[in-house]
Amino acid sequence: MDTYLTTAIDIAKEAGALLAQLFQRPHQISYKSKFNLVTEADRRSEAVIIERLRTHFPKHAVVAEEGGGQKTASDYCWYVDPLDGTTNFAHGFPVFCVSLGLTYRDELIAGVVYDPTREELFAAERKAGAYLNNQRIHVSKTTTLDESLLGTGFPVFATSDHRLNIQLYYRFTQICHGIRRAGSAALDLCSVAAGRFEGFWELKLNPWDKAAGALLVMEAGGRLSDLLDGEFSLQKDEIFASNGLVHDAMGKVFAEVMKETGERGTGDRRQGTADRGQGIGNRE
Ligand code: IPD
Ligand code: CA
Ligand code: CA
Repeated sequence: MDTYLTTAIDIAKEAGALLAQLFQRPHQISYKSKFNLVTEADRRSEAVIIERLRTHFPKHAVVAEEGGGQKTASDYCWYVDPLDGTTNFAHGFPVFCVSLGLTYRDELIAGVVYDPTREELFAAERKAGAYLNNQRIHVSKTTTLDESLLGTGFPVFATSDHRLNIQLYYRFTQICHGIRRAGSAALDLCSVAAGRFEGFWELKLNPWDKAAGALLVMEAGGRLSDLLDGEFSLQKDEIFASNGLVHDAMGKVFAEVMKETGERGTGDRRQGTADRGQGIGNRE
């Protein structure tokens, strides 16, 4: 296994253990904006991760949600979500994780998502498959939407995309086994990779939410795109991941609902759409 992945696994486990410990105590919550929470755990987890990444890979760029990133000229860039599922964590709802994704010249090459409450460690390396606790995982073989379980999420800050997503939720909920809004995009993507969900979409995510999970989906044999089947990009707000077999059927529903409602996803990432995330890593 590549040294990047083994190191990322160690770091994610260490940060995850810290989250699990802090989860047992009362949380210190503050607000980035009206509904956008941040806890002491987000900051402490990020501090551990950044310290370890700097020690092991001092030249690498880092984009981290809570602002601890560093901009360097390296071709390598880490995308760090020190606590994905902050709102869940703050409310004592035990669905959250640590997510670390690595790109080389903008291509995802390693990803780790660690869920400390279930002790589930999802890991993937480019062209080397996806694993859950060292067991190879694959997307599901379900071919029809009416036998599918899907996932989605809603950004914490209100945008016009909420209107579209509610309509998508409304439509899909009538034509599949159900839709889960579990509150951690990284774990949602892992659920697609592990065959638990047939599909997942979200309209406004940051690169650190999806870097590791996207690689997991790819390496588990799934398909990634934006909602209208444009190419997947970390730098786009929206993401659509599936087992591949229900991709076209889901895509048809996205297109129909957008047409009917006159709403659509944002497509290319726009400047200033995210109200947080001061990490400013880049490559060159
Ligand atoms: C959030 C979670 C959630 C998604 C939000 C994200 P955070 O990340 O991934 O599932 O719906 O859009 O912002 O703030 O808990 O790291
Ligand atoms: Ca997140
Ligand atoms: Ca976070």
